Amino acid sequence: MAKILCIDDEPILRLITSDYLGDMGHEVLEASSGAEGLTLFRRYRPDIVLSDLRMPDGDGFLVVTHLAEEAPETPVVIISGTGTLDDAVKTMRLGAWDYLSKPLKDMPLLGQTVERMLNKARERRNASQYLLNLESRVNELEHELQSWSSSHKDTVLRLEAALKTSIGSLNLALREKDPYTAGHNERVARISVDIGIALGLGEQEQEVLMLAGLLHDIGKIGVPESILNKRIALSPDELEEIRSHVTCGYRILCNIPFDGPVAELVLQHHERYDGSGYPKGLAGEGILLEARILAVADVYEALCSDRPYRAGLNPVDAASYVFKNAGTHFCPKCVDAFRQIIF
Ligand SMILES: [Fe+2]
Repeated sequence: MAKILCIDDEPILRLITSDYLGDMGHEVLEASSGAEGLTLFRRYRPDIVLSDLRMPDGDGFLVVTHLAEEAPETPVVIISGTGTLDDAVKTMRLGAWDYLSKPLKDMPLLGQTVERMLNKARERRNASQYLLNLESRVNELEHELQSWSSSHKDTVLRLEAALKTSIGSLNLALREKDPYTAGHNERVARISVDIGIALGLGEQEQEVLMLAGLLHDIGKIGVPESILNKRIALSPDELEEIRSHVTCGYRILCNIPFDGPVAELVLQHHERYDGSGYPKGLAGEGILLEARILAVADVYEALCSDRPYRAGLNPVDAASYVFKNAGTHFCPKCVDAFRQIIF
């Protein structure tokens, strides 16, 4: 059952229409002018409005114009006995949903029109509701996405903080065991980054190089102190033990989710450009660029430092050694960059 507002200045036509639609089970409100019809509409909010066109005190054009603005979801059907085709087109353009001509000899046509308009209004309401639900769901998803991004960011920040703490702990452990090695790692990291900048490496690659520099000798944690600090020549077995620090370092680091090949750089930092290094005997461009950089910084820094079995060289002599071994021990491109930054 629907609530129908019937606006017509002829009481007999209102009576006929009300009787017919009342018999169909609808509730019918009656108004004798456009102005009265708008007042009743605002008070009772009917489901559909049937309006005459020509009436004193507010015609059908007035009704359509106001309702199209105030309640576009409510169907308005114009029923006119005096209107022309132009009037019909005008009312439809103003917002009427349908147009019928008087006299209404075919009352079932009125009944069908009312039902059709009510169905159309229902479909429009459903479509609007669907769009509202869709919009609301999109907003919810956007909100969820923002929350997820924010919590994901927090997770990444926590992981980065945990990683930095772990690296600090590893270096502390190494410093306890071999103070020389820990300081050496920090100096190699700084020189390596300077060489990397001279070679045009980006910020992320510099970060990876810094981490690899700090950690390149971390595998010495697994080498006995008696061998690390031995003052006389090492036996072949002891030499192998020392060399194992690259694979030990790789094993420690290979499962940590760095933003670059830190573990591989640690593994390769004793490879030599001519293929005579270890552990794999890689050569030339087969060695990662950052590992070739580390090799230059590592040897230069080691030569400058005092060791248990020898005094350190002065920086000029240590750099000369690096320059002389470009193309054999060291990558020539990295040595050129080293030359630019070292003095
Ligand atoms: Fe090393």
